[in-house]
Amino acid sequence: MRKQIAAANWKMNLTLEQGEKLLDDIIAKPHELAEHQQAVFAVPFPYLTMAQQKIASKQNVYIAAQNCSNKKSGAYTGETSLEMLQSLGISVVVIGHSERREYFNENNQLLAEKVNICLEYNATPIFCCGEALNIREAGTQNAYVEKQLEESLFHLSAEQLQKVVIAYEPIWAIGTGKTASSGQAQEMHAHLRSMLAGKYGNDVANNITILYGGSVKGSNAKELFSQPDVDGGLVGGASLNADEFVTIINSLK
Ligand code: 13P
Repeated sequence: MRKQIAAANWKMNLTLEQGEKLLDDIIAKPHELAEHQQAVFAVPFPYLTMAQQKIASKQNVYIAAQNCSNKKSGAYTGETSLEMLQSLGISVVVIGHSERREYFNENNQLLAEKVNICLEYNATPIFCCGEALNIREAGTQNAYVEKQLEESLFHLSAEQLQKVVIAYEPIWAIGTGKTASSGQAQEMHAHLRSMLAGKYGNDVANNITILYGGSVKGSNAKELFSQPDVDGGLVGGASLNADEFVTIINSLK
């Protein structure tokens, strides 16, 4: 079975103390991860070590960075390299979140470089894609998301691509409380998978984990994750609440 993932994206929230308490509370609540299921916590950079220590003995739980540099090392003030992340034991990185695309001008070419550097250091990129409301309203969302994948991922070999996790996050559903319906999520995920199959073949496409993100909550996770091509979620707001996130973990199929 494909990997199913409940991924928390804390974004720029919580103090160190609050982050520690949240992880403690989540770990203390009953949740079970089957062999094909994972929980991932994308925490702010300063908390990576703390978070890594908290989950050290947990099976199928990973700490992720929310971003990385496209450069290897050197005079890039304020940046964090893959080598640094690797030295902390971090092997998952969120790449190309819509907030980074929008507020930090990250484009498809730069994101291709970030994907490459993750793979070079054996880290799993969680590659985010998704359209804004005006694109959805114009009905051109499929072509828009296709271009994001083509320009940032389609230079990869089949072997490399299988190490990537894709997160479809329609921007109009992020932080708005307006979740895509399970039908809308399934439709885009199936479209992405068929596009991957067209380029890499069915076996590869069927192996790729595709997460949905955008107002996922405890109350809608099960319905979303029950869709055949939805392999879990990338969760912002609801991941800051222990009960909510544990419910989301327990909604994985
Ligand atoms: P929300 O779950 O707060 O809508 O955020 C989604 C998201 O951006 C996760 O990366």
